Amino acid sequence: MKKHMRNPFQSTGIVKDLAFCNREREQREIKKYIENSQNILLYSHRRYGKTSLIFKVFSGLKNARGVYIDLFGTTTIDDFLKNFLRAISVLETRASHLNRIVRETLSSIGVNITLDTLTGSPTITPVVHAREKDRALEEVFAVLRKLSKKRKLAVAFDEFQEIADYGGDPFEKRLRSIIQQHTDVSFIFAGSQRHMITQMFRDSNRAFYMMAASYPLKRIEPNDYVHWIEGLYAKDGRSISPSTIGDVVWRCENHPAYVQEFFFWLWDERKVTKEIIDGVERRIIERQIAEFSAEWEALTINQKRALKLVASSGGNNLFTADKLSMHGFRTASQLSTAVQGLVNKGLLDRNEDYKIYDPLFRRWLQQS
Ligand SMILES: Nc1ncnc2c1ncn2[C@@H]1O[C@H](COP(=O)(O)OP(=O)(O)OP(=O)(O)O)[C@@H](O)[C@H]1O
Ligand SMILES: [Mg+2]
Repeated sequence: MKKHMRNPFQSTGIVKDLAFCNREREQREIKKYIENSQNILLYSHRRYGKTSLIFKVFSGLKNARGVYIDLFGTTTIDDFLKNFLRAISVLETRASHLNRIVRETLSSIGVNITLDTLTGSPTITPVVHAREKDRALEEVFAVLRKLSKKRKLAVAFDEFQEIADYGGDPFEKRLRSIIQQHTDVSFIFAGSQRHMITQMFRDSNRAFYMMAASYPLKRIEPNDYVHWIEGLYAKDGRSISPSTIGDVVWRCENHPAYVQEFFFWLWDERKVTKEIIDGVERRIIERQIAEFSAEWEALTINQKRALKLVASSGGNNLFTADKLSMHGFRTASQLSTAVQGLVNKGLLDRNEDYKIYDPLFRRWLQQS
């Protein structure tokens, strides 16, 4: 019996190897920034592929080394220091060297060097909190410097917007000034909540104002999906038509995580028909009803009205008198306040028209 390939699709987590689609141009451009020690502000809406792209770029670096620091869930400067130290540990695999550098350089934080039980590689783990945070911050960067050994470095801070809530301006300012001293390192600031990231980097009163080249990550192009998915089916000795792939991509409005989710469910189907795709779509929406409902319940009444208006009208010419009155608005300014609230929450995007970001959330709204 012919052995089939394992399902290559994956809708959560970092994707690599076969599960990673294209992003060739993005990889090239980010590498160029890194080669030239430029800082990058990499942002997008949730689940477009920022983290996967960072890992992909880092794994393909030839003359530089990448360090990935995840700040997700960090709430204090000590958390930051801890994650920073853990992450930079990858630069030295010999425990004795790491130990020596740490003893020489870190005096304001007590740390242990622990050995990973699986790989045996050493990791710096803080055991007591830093009393003098400023000095601690200087010192952890000094450790980074010593570990880099004149190699070119790219340091990615993922979920960077978290630092805005640590307790204020002084930390952001301190961090900025240290980062500015490291002109030969390329820092990648990655984050999702666009308004936050854009505020942190675009508001002239904020520390990180204009500190990095803006790099908004877009969705993946339909042609790239077709190429990639045809290739995966071919690898398994099967074929799938470009129009079938196009149908799914169109339903997902090119959203990377949704395209993966659809194909994850479609992979075991012998023949992918429109009815089967409809069924998969229904079930994906069903599984998200709890999240969609929670999102909905957190809205004000006018935001709910505005969202329904956008969902039913396709997002253009919202402000006509009959649309306003049909959806319960007394004035245009009520609608514009509601719409702004939805943009801030990341539910709506505004280009020429208004667009609901999540294509399946929109479908759910249209159905309910
Ligand atoms: N290049 C890609 N090719 C195929 N699928 C991708 C690609 N990038 C992302 N995806 C899909 O999107 C999902 C989310 O990717 P990833 O976690 O890298 O995004 P993110 O922007 O970092 O998300 P978050 O906002 O949650 O941090 C992946 O699990 C995968 O399904
Ligand atoms: Mg991410």
